Amino acid sequence: MARYLITSALPYINGIKHLGNLIGSQLPSDAYARYLRAKGHEVLLICATDEHGTPAELAAAKAGKPVAEFCAEMWAVQKDIADGFAMSFDHFGRSSSDRNHKLTQHFAGRLAEAGLIEEVMEKQVYSNADGRYLPDRYIEGTCPNCGYDKARGDQCENCTKQLDPVDLIEPRSAISGSTDLELRETKHLYLRQSTMREKLETWIDGQKDWPILTTSIAKKWLNEGDGLQDRGITRDLDWGIPVKRGDRAWPGMDGKVFYVWFDAPIEYIAATAEWADASGQDDAAWERWWRTDKGAGDVHYVQFMAKDNIPFHTLSFPVTLMGSAEPWKLVDYIKGFNWLNYEGGKFSTSQGRGIFMDQALEILPSDYWRWWLLSNAPESDDANFTWESFQSGVNKDLADVLGNFVSRVTKFCRSKFGEVVPEGGTYGEMEAAVIAEIARRLEAYEARMEAIELRKATAELRAIWVAGNEYLQAAEPWSVFKTDPGRAAAIIRFALNLIRLYGVLSAPFIPVASRDILAAMHVEDAEWPEDVKTALAALPAGHTFSVPEVLFAKITDERRDELEARFAGS
Ligand code: MF3
Ligand code: ZN
Repeated sequence: MARYLITSALPYINGIKHLGNLIGSQLPSDAYARYLRAKGHEVLLICATDEHGTPAELAAAKAGKPVAEFCAEMWAVQKDIADGFAMSFDHFGRSSSDRNHKLTQHFAGRLAEAGLIEEVMEKQVYSNADGRYLPDRYIEGTCPNCGYDKARGDQCENCTKQLDPVDLIEPRSAISGSTDLELRETKHLYLRQSTMREKLETWIDGQKDWPILTTSIAKKWLNEGDGLQDRGITRDLDWGIPVKRGDRAWPGMDGKVFYVWFDAPIEYIAATAEWADASGQDDAAWERWWRTDKGAGDVHYVQFMAKDNIPFHTLSFPVTLMGSAEPWKLVDYIKGFNWLNYEGGKFSTSQGRGIFMDQALEILPSDYWRWWLLSNAPESDDANFTWESFQSGVNKDLADVLGNFVSRVTKFCRSKFGEVVPEGGTYGEMEAAVIAEIARRLEAYEARMEAIELRKATAELRAIWVAGNEYLQAAEPWSVFKTDPGRAAAIIRFALNLIRLYGVLSAPFIPVASRDILAAMHVEDAEWPEDVKTALAALPAGHTFSVPEVLFAKITDERRDELEARFAGS
């Protein structure tokens, strides 16, 4: 028994996420957490919405709502969709929580005391008409490079040139259109990350078991160029966490908030505190996951994220934690993901290309998506969603292999013996061979799960399902029944036990179908098998069951074509 703290990267609040986002952090974190819980470990799985920054303000403005109201609503929407995908978060928090305000300000105070924060005067665009500073995305103008007249302060969308607001010709406010802009001197805080480079390098080099994707990205940013430059951690925005040192005001920083990437990872900790609050526990309950001086010494901490998040988790967030000079728990393992493409191109929110989480759930139950996404997870490389591949994964693995096995066995049993595990006959070499095969596969499955190689883990699970089908094909209970009903009863008893075992082993990936399978087998509290032979004797003769509804419906070619056309985008 061990203790695992697992966090999924926090989805931005600005809109509903697509399937590429889902497989990049939330879904794999859930499969891993479910597996570890089933193995009897103590697990805490944490996620939250990432609610600050300009994208949140812009999305709220677009929706015509005050930003606080927009975020509250969008949090509820995202929470609902996460539930729809059967995400087993112990807590789904909000980075705008009171807990995060306090903790973020606390860290800033500690970093300042440690001499890691520098106050810098810089010039920022101020709009007199709007009465506020305009961050990059709030300034529009004509691109000096291509002449496009809606270029943004940070980049021209037309020619992709990176810009500085001062480069724009005829700059105007994107909020009001006003051209009454001026440059004003204003103070900002910089985190002196560069002073921590050696400490970080030692820490990263000490991580012998990190995946190559994680280490290579971390080292690249550490060694090449701008990765570890001192970084501005404050912004001139209204929405965000007000800049303070602990609970004290910060002179000259009125009206400023922390930069979203400073406060977002701190929310991993704050969300754990929110979890303790929500479940009526005291501070000790969350501190034992996060403070090595308060019991977190034996915690194994694993983070899940898409690869673009890796620099923030290998460099910036560790700087915050280490720089505080307090005993915070650092991550032990970072699982990063590559990109999921949609039909050979990018998922695109603006062009409506690809599938969004809410749409997916309207089309088919969560397990169909979970299975395809996890069995095609972009782990070693980018992956590509196509409707053809999705159709084939669902039809072959779920319907033909698992679903068909469950249906054939339970229906045959009902017609010959009733809805009860039949008695009589004995097991022979065939059963022994299946037990040996599944024991071998289960060992491989567990090893893959422990290594968080989910795609390979699903291949082992599929092989375990296939073993049952092949057994049924070879044992032929339907013909044996005619000459030797006792032996047929033994075959069916064994097969019904296989169904129960599949219900247990499949739960990390397809939790809803697993629950339905176990319910149909009238099983409560099925434990993860210690020994396959014993597990396949769990349902004794006389145990009742009910033939389940169709577990997985096949996707027809017509339906596939229709969906493909509908999501092709504009
Ligand atoms: N919202 C970010 C993204 O979607 C991820 C934030 S992860 C955390 O890319 F570290 F900030 F929590
Ligand atoms: Zn341009």
